[in-house]
Amino acid sequence: MADPSKRPHSKRSPYTADRGIPGAYEGETITRRRLMTGGALAAGGIASAAFGLPALGFALGPVLEDQQGERFLDVGPEADFNPQTYVPKVITLVPEDIGETGKTTIYVRKFDKGRDTDKLGQPYIAISTRCAHLGCPVRYVQAAERFICPCHGGVYNFDGKVGGGPPVRPLDRFETDVKAGRVLVGPRFSVNSKLEKFHTRDPSNHLDGLWQYLYPRRPTTP
Ligand code: FES
Repeated sequence: MADPSKRPHSKRSPYTADRGIPGAYEGETITRRRLMTGGALAAGGIASAAFGLPALGFALGPVLEDQQGERFLDVGPEADFNPQTYVPKVITLVPEDIGETGKTTIYVRKFDKGRDTDKLGQPYIAISTRCAHLGCPVRYVQAAERFICPCHGGVYNFDGKVGGGPPVRPLDRFETDVKAGRVLVGPRFSVNSKLEKFHTRDPSNHLDGLWQYLYPRRPTTP
């Protein structure tokens, strides 16, 4: 009896007509049904990637970004600051930027245990001058104990919370620390109306309730 493994290999024809498929055309190597199925799957894959990749980028961005923002800058001795008023200081936000472009003014004061209610645990309060409406530079007015934005009339209270006008959240803050009697200012962060801490968001991004999920963090926001 012949060994089945020694039987000559029967090769299947690549042409659909040779395989007796109904409606086959001469020279056709793939059925129209198979072509349509493959095309639909490919279109579905492209559509899924169009939705999924941006979300993946938002999720992984903070993990992949470099940690340059962790540096702390010396803004002066503790004796320069008190809890009653803000002292303006100029810091370099983006070290790679040459000249004045990476610099920004911040307002710094000592945390006041009797007056401040936030639980952020910062020994000093360092407030950003970037308005949370559209980013114009705000100015601190000591007589009114308010931050005023010249662009659209935004007003912020002594602690940076919104006091009036169009801004959607309080002014951003910076981490602070004290070492050897010197006040250090670190990375920026955003806060919601309860002064709870969030990763830095762009101006105009809401942070209260469900809004925080509709305005996810952009990894490149300084
Ligand atoms: S940019 Fe400050 S109120 Fe519009």
